Amino acid sequence: MDDAALEKALLLAVSAGDVESDAFASANGADHKKVVGLLKSLESSELVRSAARDHGALKLAAEAQAYLTQGTPEAQAFAAVPPGAGVPLADFKKLDKTISDIGFKQAMQQKWLAMEKGEVPMVVRKADAVEDTARKYLEAINAGDVASVPPKELDALVKKRKLVKQETWKTFTIGKGAKFALERKKAAADLTKEMLQDGSWRDAEFKQYNLVPGAGAPPNGGCVHPLLKVRQQFREIFLQMGFAEMPTNNFVESGFWNFDTLIQPQMHPARDAHDTFFMKTPAVANRAPEDYVQRVRAMHESGGHGSIGHQYSWKRSEADKNILRTHTTAVSARCLHKLAQDGFRPAKFFSIDRVFRNEAVDRTHLAEFHQVEGVICDVGLTLGDLIGVLYQFFARLGMTQLRFKPAFNPYTEPSMEIFAYHPMLKKWVEVGNSGMFRPEMLIPMGLPEDVNVIAWGLSLERPTMIMYGIDNIRDLFGSKMQMSSVKNNPVCRLGMIEQRETVKATE
Ligand code: PHE
Repeated sequence: MDDAALEKALLLAVSAGDVESDAFASANGADHKKVVGLLKSLESSELVRSAARDHGALKLAAEAQAYLTQGTPEAQAFAAVPPGAGVPLADFKKLDKTISDIGFKQAMQQKWLAMEKGEVPMVVRKADAVEDTARKYLEAINAGDVASVPPKELDALVKKRKLVKQETWKTFTIGKGAKFALERKKAAADLTKEMLQDGSWRDAEFKQYNLVPGAGAPPNGGCVHPLLKVRQQFREIFLQMGFAEMPTNNFVESGFWNFDTLIQPQMHPARDAHDTFFMKTPAVANRAPEDYVQRVRAMHESGGHGSIGHQYSWKRSEADKNILRTHTTAVSARCLHKLAQDGFRPAKFFSIDRVFRNEAVDRTHLAEFHQVEGVICDVGLTLGDLIGVLYQFFARLGMTQLRFKPAFNPYTEPSMEIFAYHPMLKKWVEVGNSGMFRPEMLIPMGLPEDVNVIAWGLSLERPTMIMYGIDNIRDLFGSKMQMSSVKNNPVCRLGMIEQRETVKATE
């Protein structure tokens, strides 16, 4: 009988009155489990309802079935030993294991057989005749007459010899459900336009919503980009060192704050359209206090404080041009100016944010990237302070060996490129740029003359690429970045690189 026919037969039977699942199964030649499955599915659509009944019975284990005809192993063992002299142990051991092992043990316990040690060890009978009581009990249990078996014997058969098992099962009394019908209607999953038009929705059976939450697909979002992970690490390092974060929210900056305040001459090649993005609309903005602008102009044109300046005619129009900031030093300039206006106090600032350069994009350069910058402002700072703080800073990144190379920046003097022995790359790499801000930059801001400012900067991309083993910057940032790499990259432990190396070295 196929599934559909069985379903029909069951519904028909139930229409006449309550049905016992086991009786129904045997009457229809169906497996009881299959009837139960059918019943559960009909019950879920309320065509039937059911009440379960628990059953339990003692059943013979498969091996015990065989003993019903052949006798128990101990009886078989007894039969295998002839009366009188018995049988040499060596021959007896050649018999089937059930007899020579289990049977022998049981027969010895019951004192039916014994072993006689001598030159040739022999197995001999200890009784003239035996009664196979265990078999008698097994027969009784098999016939359903458990009551006639003494409880102690039954216990031994179940627990010790494991020849009898307790079996449990359920049967069901099946009756009509709230929505009983002789045929199951296929429940509709959707309410369709046609159903609405022809009115069939009135009688249609609809599938229930499954409101039990299943294991949903793992959410795709919520992964942190490697640059943001490294940024967070840098931020924590700066905060631990007592630095305060500068506001970096102005991507669009004026030439004034990006270049002029840093005493970078207006004819400097970096101010060219080849290196800098200029805004079209609005192309200009006047975003600096006039007195400060005039002091900066004077410094550019004729200098002051022992400087001769750049000796050219400074143009306001150039300073007012809106550009995308080319470095975060523009942020530092704004911040130092504000510090001077608010009244100088020693300060430590940092910033980590995006900068823009009109450059050809290649494996290591993008037109947009991120800079990390640290600035310390105090009375009487020296190059020694800068070197000292750089050692502290880079040690926290796991780089303890540094080298410095004289360099040039329009706004710092002296200036130093920073090289570090990179424990992961096992070589010296350039890790940043640094210097002491020129007095030509600080004096017009209004900072006291004895105040020095030391600063350093690096890109965020470079350490991130090293950390995450990325050799093409386009795989890290920009439209070609794979979302999967954002999802799968590990957590960032910047300061761990040194420790990781030491662990390896001592392994
Ligand atoms: N602004 C520099 C750059 O873009 C980095 C730097 C910051 C250098 C502070 C000196 C001091 O490379």
